[in-house]
Amino acid sequence: MALQDADALFQHKIDNEIKIEPKDFMPEAYRKTNIRQISQHAHSEIVGMLPEANWISRAPSLKRKAILLAKVQDEAGHGLYLYSAAETLGTSRDEMINDLHIGKAKYSSIFNYPSLTWADMGVIGWLVDGAAILNQVALCRTSYGPYARALVRICKEESFHQRQGFDSLLVLSKGTPAQKEMCQDAINRWWWPSLMMFGPKDSESTNNDQSIKWKIKRKTNDELRQSFVDMAAEQVKVLGMVLPDEKLKWNSQKNQYDFGEINWVEFWNVVKGNGPCNKQRLAARVKAHEDGAWVREAAIAFAEKRKMKREILKEPAI
Ligand code: 3HC
Repeated sequence: MALQDADALFQHKIDNEIKIEPKDFMPEAYRKTNIRQISQHAHSEIVGMLPEANWISRAPSLKRKAILLAKVQDEAGHGLYLYSAAETLGTSRDEMINDLHIGKAKYSSIFNYPSLTWADMGVIGWLVDGAAILNQVALCRTSYGPYARALVRICKEESFHQRQGFDSLLVLSKGTPAQKEMCQDAINRWWWPSLMMFGPKDSESTNNDQSIKWKIKRKTNDELRQSFVDMAAEQVKVLGMVLPDEKLKWNSQKNQYDFGEINWVEFWNVVKGNGPCNKQRLAARVKAHEDGAWVREAAIAFAEKRKMKREILKEPAI
């Protein structure tokens, strides 16, 4: 097929909501953008396990411990689906993980903040997973097939994550004065970093326009952030808590909430590796990777042994 025809076919598929599949022709920049976004997303799921894992051994009851454990395991699964989706674009897991470890690949800024109290587990579920879901529900319609399909399953699990977080906060919000205070303090610390998860303003976003044209992103950073504010501003009332923004106010003309300005200096600082926990998070991931080397070696040896056995017995590969 001539390049012109291939380009036209690619555009026809994008225009008509037909998914782009791994063996289809795609412009090199489309492939690269998908690798960048999907791998950043995968790294976020994996690094995102760290602030929560910190509380598994200190959860206040067996029930809460079991829920948190299941949630952290789900995040590992999400990371694996996403690495697999990115691999269909011609990169390898080793390459992606190496890029994370050398600080070349990004992951979500939110996971560079510390989880200081038990209430943080509730707020991470409610706000962080809540922000992630809003973004990811839109991404279920992303144009790259393997990414879209991975996200359908991820969103189902994320919605359980958000509910368990809110449920945990609801208990604290009806508890003792100390528990109420802990709940409000956690909301205060995580609110602004949660808004930063949606990325820079549309006017500052380098990838927005092209990604929207290619239907990799289905909504812009600002559109998603606004939906999140509108949702959280109502839900916080059920908790009897407040969001730490004096400018948060319903605007009946726009039919949405107005809200204050994000501290963009802080955002870029965290993205560039200078947030409160960036160094700690990367060091933990590198250590886990090194400590797990023997598992990978054993898995490769086992696969080779099975392959040899199949060849000797002339069995078909599964
Ligand atoms: N943290 C770190 N880096 C960020 C960021 C954030 N919150 N927001 C934006 N950036 C980076 C971008 O990667 C881009 O960097 P690059 O061009 O050098 O690679 C730069 O800042 C400019 O931003 P853009 O708006 O141009 O970037 P995108 O078009 O990629 O939009 C995004 C950013 C909205 C995060 C988009 O990549 C996206 O939707 N990604 C998929 C979802 C995702 O990764 N979510 C992360 C959270 S997942 C999660 O929280 C796990 C769950 O279990 C809770």
